[in-house]
Amino acid sequence: MQLGKIPRIRLGEYPTPLAELTNLTRRLGGPRLFMKREDLVGIALGGNKVRKLEYALAEALAQRATAIVTSGAVQSNHVRLTIACANRLGLKTYAVLRGERPSAPTGNLLLDHILGAAEIHWVDPKAFSTREELVQATEARAQELAEELRRRGERPYVIPNGCNPLHSALAYAGCVLELLEQMRALNLAPDGIVTACGTAGTQTGLILGSLLFAQGQIRVVGVSVSARAEVLRERIRRNLEEALRFLGLDLPIPEEAIEVHDGYVGPGYAVPTPEMKRAVELLARTEGILLDPVYTGKAMAGLLDLLEKGVLKGMENVVFLHTGGVPALFADTQAPAFYPGPA
Ligand SMILES: Cc1ncc(COP(=O)(O)O)c(C=O)c1O
Repeated sequence: MQLGKIPRIRLGEYPTPLAELTNLTRRLGGPRLFMKREDLVGIALGGNKVRKLEYALAEALAQRATAIVTSGAVQSNHVRLTIACANRLGLKTYAVLRGERPSAPTGNLLLDHILGAAEIHWVDPKAFSTREELVQATEARAQELAEELRRRGERPYVIPNGCNPLHSALAYAGCVLELLEQMRALNLAPDGIVTACGTAGTQTGLILGSLLFAQGQIRVVGVSVSARAEVLRERIRRNLEEALRFLGLDLPIPEEAIEVHDGYVGPGYAVPTPEMKRAVELLARTEGILLDPVYTGKAMAGLLDLLEKGVLKGMENVVFLHTGGVPALFADTQAPAFYPGPA
């Protein structure tokens, strides 16, 4: 199966911009740093979900779905973008959110209301002792909701949080091809791509893209925002194998192709860290670019530290993937990290 033959419905504006971070490069004394602006993909404040949803929603349309069911955290970028993309296609979105229901919506949740989710259901975290249990219960609630909708006469299509691994892999392999063309126009080639790693779908796709379109010569560096590196590495390998099988390719996956750093999570998922705050402020103040506090802020903190420690030595052109998430800067849970209040 060829990548270009897999059904995909175009929802974003491509290519997403590639910006050279000249001030930051100067400040750090090299390597040349670039940023692939997936946050500027042109729909509902953007982010890495749009490319993935182009595959998921194409499948939903092929199955003649009348409603989309999805799930995520209270401040889920995935849920916001699913509603926005489904709106473009005239489909309703039913969302299940895990977390405390706030008295007033802020950040992504406010946008979910503006975009007009058909229904928002809540899973109370107090009933669960671990985040994994809560995530599983939320996904299970989404399946139940789909059953309920079927009984109401709808044809629901369920999109898991972060999209299914195959759609993610195809989406971000395609992004690598796009990036290679943009770099080639500058007479350059990317030595490395640095990305936030959540469900790991994006990183899986970037590695697939490196293997398919650059003979594995682009080093893909993932910075975990939540899980341990070994858990993510195993997930990436499994999903890469599945994607290669789907494409009918028999390519070896070298051990070193799967690189995840988990030293930048801090106390937990979406919990602000001083390094994240410094990274967000640095990009804002050198380049006028806003990162987000949950994903790209921590990933950039990782990139800065890995550069300082010499872990990325030998790379001349490094691309940071801006995967979006900026609405979370305005979330009641995140804003105080940047402005604790008047002195
Ligand atoms: C802004 C942002 N960046 C990065 C990620 C991580 O992407 P993935 O789940 O594909 O690892 C997410 C996922 O929720 C996200 O919303």
